[in-house]
Amino acid sequence: MAQIIPPSPWVAAYAGRIPANGGVLDLACGSGRHSRLLAGLGYAVLAVDRNVEALAGLGDVAGLGDVAGVESMVADLEGETWPLAGRQFAGVVVTNYLWRPRFGDVLALVQPGGILIYETFMQGNAQYGKPSSPDFLLEPGELRARIAAAGWHEIAFEEGYTDSPKPAMRQAICAGRW
Ligand SMILES: C[S@@+](CC[C@H](N)C(=O)[O-])C[C@H]1O[C@@H](n2cnc3c(N)ncnc32)[C@H](O)[C@@H]1O
Repeated sequence: MAQIIPPSPWVAAYAGRIPANGGVLDLACGSGRHSRLLAGLGYAVLAVDRNVEALAGLGDVAGLGDVAGVESMVADLEGETWPLAGRQFAGVVVTNYLWRPRFGDVLALVQPGGILIYETFMQGNAQYGKPSSPDFLLEPGELRARIAAAGWHEIAFEEGYTDSPKPAMRQAICAGRW
């Protein structure tokens, strides 16, 4: 049986800040633990990942399953063509994924008045395991700096060592586009 991974406490804590209308994007969603959480809160969710098998339990992919309120999309977020061009959402959730060349495109996915919830690994994580490449690790204060540079409103920010769900160096932000 597939292992059920609980949602991130950070996402759970701030998901309710997302405006009710406009839909939510779960970017690089994996098996969709946050898509399920968000759909359970009443949001219409678009779950995007390149991994068809990970998406399969969410619905719309090969008819293998269906979670009410979740539409899934197989897409490469690191290719030449940005698969979400022109789309906007009331909320965008990104966890355990970082691809800096598209960070600006990710911000553009949040509609004015919308919310970005972003949480992933940061510098110093290599001592605890993967990811260990600087390409996939945020620099200290990076999410805060990027949000400030965009002129957005920081709602909450956290970074540093955590031992849950496993020892790691992590960084997280909840920000509003206003
Ligand atoms: C560590 S998992 C995180 C999954 C989910 N966000 C979570 O926290 O449970 C990283 C996800 O990014 C996806 N991913 C990596 N590179 C990608 C790409 N180029 N395009 C789309 N998805 C990608 C992987 O398939 C994987 O599901």
